[in-house]
Amino acid sequence: MDKEELTVIRKFEHIEHCLKKQVEAHVTNQFENIHFVHTSLPEIDKDEIDLSVEFLGRKFDYPIMIAGMTGGTKGSQLAGKINKTLAKAAQELNIPMGVGSQRAMIRKPETWESYYVRDVAPDIFLVGNLGAPQFAENMPNRYGVEEALKAVETIQADALAIHMNPLQESVQPEGDTQYKGVINALAELKGELSYPIIAKETGAGVSMEVAIKLESIGIDAIDVGGLGGTSWSGVEYYRAKDERSKNLALKFWDWGIPTALSVAEVRYVTKLPIIATGGIRDGIMIAKALALGANLAGVALPLLKPAVNGDVEGVIKILQRYIDELRNAMFLVGAGNVKELRKVPLVVTGFAREWLEQRIDLWEFLRDRRL
Ligand SMILES: Cc1cc2nc3c(=O)[nH]c(=O)nc-3n(C[C@H](O)[C@H](O)[C@H](O)COP(=O)(O)O)c2cc1C
Repeated sequence: MDKEELTVIRKFEHIEHCLKKQVEAHVTNQFENIHFVHTSLPEIDKDEIDLSVEFLGRKFDYPIMIAGMTGGTKGSQLAGKINKTLAKAAQELNIPMGVGSQRAMIRKPETWESYYVRDVAPDIFLVGNLGAPQFAENMPNRYGVEEALKAVETIQADALAIHMNPLQESVQPEGDTQYKGVINALAELKGELSYPIIAKETGAGVSMEVAIKLESIGIDAIDVGGLGGTSWSGVEYYRAKDERSKNLALKFWDWGIPTALSVAEVRYVTKLPIIATGGIRDGIMIAKALALGANLAGVALPLLKPAVNGDVEGVIKILQRYIDELRNAMFLVGAGNVKELRKVPLVVTGFAREWLEQRIDLWEFLRDRRL
């Protein structure tokens, strides 16, 4: 069995574990320590709240993105069903969506259909997905602009996400742990690829130091993919076959920068569009992420179950609940649109305050975080 076949099997195991096991972090994404200040006189009508946002030149009805999860099977088997179900929901709500890693497709082009959703979602902002280690200096057959173009154009995507997952790779025996030269490779890719590139973490968060590097090479947006939602070390724990691997995955289950703190760090140092992904489980969290400076909030795990069953309405129902909660939170802080939400006062307590006080000038940030 070659490495790409193993990649496909691994993706199935991931979905299986994500559906059947407890794969989330045991720690929170810290939004509980970010507080709005209730407004008794909102001075707006709830029905008139505008939830639309602009992101990479496109306008969406809601500030929510369906985060990339899967792809890589032939025809329209499981992965194809999941992607098409998510895409139909994204089309109906006019929100963006990502597909999962297209590594399998690069080596096995016949799997392209499992990522292809344009037949059911002609208008959505669609994001392709490749892994950062595939571009690394010491990666055999390393990727370049040719593979990036193939990923985007085969599925008629609008942008490419490059996922950064050193945590997940580091806890699996067969992991791709070569990351040397990735920044240079991404800088080169940025110079050659005409599509926007989103640098995307997958559950351990992006620090301000990394955000500065990404902005300096011209990356177009950052998905902070923070700690507090799906833990990839957690998923790998269930996949691990021997005690040594199990121990490593268990130790690093809760490693990373919580999503709320990662959004604050990245917003503090860059003006890049931010997607806040990682444990987003209600609309109040989305409101807080936007208030901290995110442009979109990304959701993955909660949508997997309905998507596996082909249940478009089930996906929409979850997202509609988030939208209702977001709108209500905005009403209660008197924010008529997302721009106004960025200006409302926030109070930061507990662990979030301790962290942010040591990393940024918190008081300056809370005063001036508005874009
Ligand atoms: C089943 C599953 C598969 C995933 N596969 C990918 C992937 O191939 N590429 C990627 O960049 N992120 C992948 N992710 C990560 C998500 O995009 C997201 O960053 C992460 O799950 C955190 O969001 P959540 O807490 O809402 O699940 C996957 C997530 C899940 C649940």
